Amino acid sequence: MKTLLTSALPYANGPLHLGHLAGAYLPADIFARYLRLMGKEVLWVCGSDEHGAAITLRAKKEGITPRDIIDKYHELNKSSFEQLGVSFDYYHRTSAPLHHETSQDFFKKLLEKGDQFEVKTTEQYYDAEAEQFLADRYIKGTCPNCGSDNAFGDQCENCGKDLSPTELINPVSTISGAKPELRETKHWFFKLDQHEAWLKEWIQHGTVEGRQLHDPKAWKKHVIGQCMSWLDGGLHPRSITRDLDWGIQVPVAGAEGKVLYVWFDAPIGYVSATKQWALENGGDWEGWWKGEDARLIHFIGKDNIVFHCIVFPAMLRAHGEYNLPENVPANQFLNFEGDKFSKSRGWGIELHEYLETFKDFPNGKDALRWALIRNLPEQQDADFTWDGFTEYYDKDLADKLGNFFNRVTVLTHKYFGGKVPEANTAARAQVQSKISEAVHAIGTHIEAYRFKDAATAFVELASFGNTYLQDAAPWSLFKANPDDPAIAETMYNSIQIAAALALTATPFIPFSAEKLRATLNQVPANNGDWQLALDALTAGLPLLPSGHLLGEAGVLFPKIEDRKDDSRKLIIQGERDKLAAILARKEEEKEIITTTAGEAARPAAKPEITFDDFLKLDLRTATILSAAPVKKSNKLLHLTIDLGTEQRSVVSGIAKHFAPEDIVGRQVVCVTNLAPRKMAGVLSEAMILMAEDGEGKLVFVSPPAGFAAGWGVR
Ligand code: 2FM
Ligand code: ZN
Repeated sequence: MKTLLTSALPYANGPLHLGHLAGAYLPADIFARYLRLMGKEVLWVCGSDEHGAAITLRAKKEGITPRDIIDKYHELNKSSFEQLGVSFDYYHRTSAPLHHETSQDFFKKLLEKGDQFEVKTTEQYYDAEAEQFLADRYIKGTCPNCGSDNAFGDQCENCGKDLSPTELINPVSTISGAKPELRETKHWFFKLDQHEAWLKEWIQHGTVEGRQLHDPKAWKKHVIGQCMSWLDGGLHPRSITRDLDWGIQVPVAGAEGKVLYVWFDAPIGYVSATKQWALENGGDWEGWWKGEDARLIHFIGKDNIVFHCIVFPAMLRAHGEYNLPENVPANQFLNFEGDKFSKSRGWGIELHEYLETFKDFPNGKDALRWALIRNLPEQQDADFTWDGFTEYYDKDLADKLGNFFNRVTVLTHKYFGGKVPEANTAARAQVQSKISEAVHAIGTHIEAYRFKDAATAFVELASFGNTYLQDAAPWSLFKANPDDPAIAETMYNSIQIAAALALTATPFIPFSAEKLRATLNQVPANNGDWQLALDALTAGLPLLPSGHLLGEAGVLFPKIEDRKDDSRKLIIQGERDKLAAILARKEEEKEIITTTAGEAARPAAKPEITFDDFLKLDLRTATILSAAPVKKSNKLLHLTIDLGTEQRSVVSGIAKHFAPEDIVGRQVVCVTNLAPRKMAGVLSEAMILMAEDGEGKLVFVSPPAGFAAGWGVR
């Protein structure tokens, strides 16, 4: 049986972050590595998704070409994946000529069928200045739902509502700023509606025309749930062409200036990647996609479910020769320290940044893989935290795995000159069956896409090893009688557990697995080794035979929390500091927004207050004695003011308007009885009054120069 694995093609218009990894790449890497170790035929393809309006939009904004963008991010992402040990068999790109040709052939095949497409002329926005039709993303306007001015033609980012461009109020072209006009244009629509019935049957029961293609119980509930809610809502023809100049030309006369919609060509990218792999490696691409002894599995994040479970399967079946996916084990989303990853806010960590910042962090790549694996968003959204990162490393890798290996190798060197001792059959049997159970369990979980459970089973085997060794206490036996045969039995069994761990670690933490194997004097695991180990365990044979000489003992995973001056702690602290600075900035912005609300309009009238309310404000004149920027803030200044009878510390959001040296000595008016509070970690004990005009210009409300400090303002 051939297993063809795909992972969602990441857009080549930005770097990957940890959320991407946890969604579609790490789970697939565990799966692919495991199957290879089981000696199965596996092909795992991926690549860059290089079309779509987002790429052209960005290129226009930055004054560069789409090619500049995709070349940069294709290389960056490909290399980041490689460094993290993500073991694709082929990483292709959708700008490749072979992909263009494959997508066009696919389109033509559907066209030839005669009943898959309809061509419709519709009215779409056209920018007469830029002389082009506008993709939905190229149009901005006011959201009819929430009134936000920044809604796009496909969606309002403020309220999340899906929109069509003609729903926008006051639409403008983001290319020229012109008011777009509606013009007629022709597009090809894929008649998805006619696939609704069989898709329903296939998603719900795994059958197509009575043929059982997969077991729906093996699919994740949230995946089936999302599909059914789409299907129940009814499928409609979907336009699969666009008026754009970046993408794959629609291969039909009369379609000049039109390209295939990015979501039509992207999944075909899996096919072209397979073809390219076959060209370079001498395989038969069709066998992987069309063979009866082949299965297809798509690894994706939940935002891609509809395309992989409804649209692409419909395309594949419409084409008529392809296998349908056996499973689409989509993951939910990973958050970062309690919030969504956000490039614009700088929230999260990008993979290439991690690789750079953590390059001197011992076992840094596996530390990241492990923290993500222990916390995969398999059934619900999960949250990556630096606390979790440290804890999983220390508790699992250092305390359990590393500690066990260290003890096993040190003791074997001490008692047996580093050689696996002899042990009799009876003494071996019980531990042997425990190992066999664990190795089976880890594999069974992986095969069922329960990667977190697989990781737990792996850690449990390490815990079992520690407990076994602790209970057997060979060091006590040795003190009493160095020739006690129980010492050899204990070490023999412990070494077998270690060998099982060094093998089963490979899909999760491949770099460390090689180190673990080196301490046992083993070469890195080869394809088929997992299956060989299972066979050996079943036959009652050892994973490492008596007489085998182990490698050097050593501490493979020094604990992070153990040493105060550990440079690893500084690296992690650096990451925490970045987040703290972002949070501080957010607070300031809130402050500034409340003080600068209504930039264009005059502030709205506030409810009436009594004279007594007004008298509650303790307003006084003051003199600014000193002013300095606040660290890590570009909005705040730290001032000291003189109130005649005392000096106070004040933090004021005026750094963008005044240079510190220009305001020292200035007379101001302050509210002096506001409760003190900290801003960006600095105490503020008064508030300086400012006036602001419609352009956001700030001026001090000041008594004339020379007016004494500390007097009342009425
Ligand atoms: O959502 C995304 O990042 C898309 N680039 C995924 C495409 S998956 C596939 F169809 F190629
Ligand atoms: Zn809205």
